Amino acid sequence: MILFNLLKNFLIFLGIFVLVYLYFHTKPLIYLFTRFGIQNLKKKYNAKWALITGGSHGIGLEIAKILAQQGINLFLLSSTQEKLDKACVDLKKVNPKIQVRVIQLDLTSSSENIEKVLEEVVGEQEIELMFSNAGAGIFGKFEEESFEAIEKFLHLNLQSHVKMTHWFLKRCSPQKEKEKEKEKEKGKGKEKGKQKRALVFTSSCLAYFALPFASSLYHSSKAFLTIFGGSLYSRVKDKGVDILTVHPGIVNTGFAKVDGKSVHDLPKGQEPDIVAKIIVNAVGKFSQIQTSHMGVLMVTMRNLFSTNTISQFGLKIYRKQQKKLLQKKDN
Ligand SMILES: NC(=O)c1ccc[n+]([C@@H]2O[C@H](COP(=O)([O-])OP(=O)(O)OC[C@H]3O[C@@H](n4cnc5c(N)ncnc54)[C@H](OP(=O)(O)O)[C@@H]3O)[C@@H](O)[C@H]2O)c1
Repeated sequence: MILFNLLKNFLIFLGIFVLVYLYFHTKPLIYLFTRFGIQNLKKKYNAKWALITGGSHGIGLEIAKILAQQGINLFLLSSTQEKLDKACVDLKKVNPKIQVRVIQLDLTSSSENIEKVLEEVVGEQEIELMFSNAGAGIFGKFEEESFEAIEKFLHLNLQSHVKMTHWFLKRCSPQKEKEKEKEKEKGKGKEKGKQKRALVFTSSCLAYFALPFASSLYHSSKAFLTIFGGSLYSRVKDKGVDILTVHPGIVNTGFAKVDGKSVHDLPKGQEPDIVAKIIVNAVGKFSQIQTSHMGVLMVTMRNLFSTNTISQFGLKIYRKQQKKLLQKKDN
């Protein structure tokens, strides 16, 4: 009986310890709290303009719809004019009063070209919110991908985020801020006070693992983004910039599809409007969030097992899944 009680107390203690550990290391419930209601970013940041890369489709477009509802004007950036035109029509339906300006720009192009196009289209227009969201997958085996495809991928998933962030943060430099404040003081006077801004990165719940699929590159690029966002977070806070890095699980967008067909046999994911809502609600409240149960599971595993164990496990799942896909194709 004494032994039983001891064991029971030990298990209760262990349970509490694991829960507390998981809470502080994975903050698993955060995304659940961010599901309800919608935070008004126009009010929170006195936001007049937002720029969304990859704003013509998927998660980016759903974020744009929420911001449009709140009366925030939008710069939508993507590489395809038709997608941008369609997104504009959709957003005008959501709120005919807002301005939507499109930036047709291939983010795999050179940094000079990105800068040039941004200066042409955005110019001196103040932007309070930026969502660095555009990204794509690369799905073959690393050594079988052409290096041209690899470089393009790295430009989009890594370099373009760094370039966009550099461009955005330079516009919030203390010197620029002082000049703006002086101008405001000369003018109306009542708009004084430090302007707050937010910058959001779309990473992925895969950012935490050395997984053997997606060319070994997709999750590596997302790992970079997660660390990059995290390292900027406290540095730019005193400039009034809130940084948030979000980690979606599987989302039902055009992602991971080639010619309309899924590259991987993925289970059904979350709808992009739900993910967008979670993201908007987390801005300025957290530095990093998971947006799905899958992400929570992933981070929990990362905390419990070694990278190698997870990689081996991932390889087994990958092989099984590839077998299934091949069988499907044969049928
Ligand atoms: N869906 C998922 O399961 C999932 C999971 C985790 C993370 N994510 C991440 O979420 C982000 C958004 O993905 P999504 O699921 O919303 O995908 P999506 O529906 O395919 O949208 C991607 C957006 O990025 C734009 N884009 C792609 N290549 C571009 C380029 N070279 N230059 C400029 N814009 C480009 C696309 O427009 P154009 O085609 O017109 O260029 C589109 O607007 C990505 O960073 C992705 O890695 C997605």
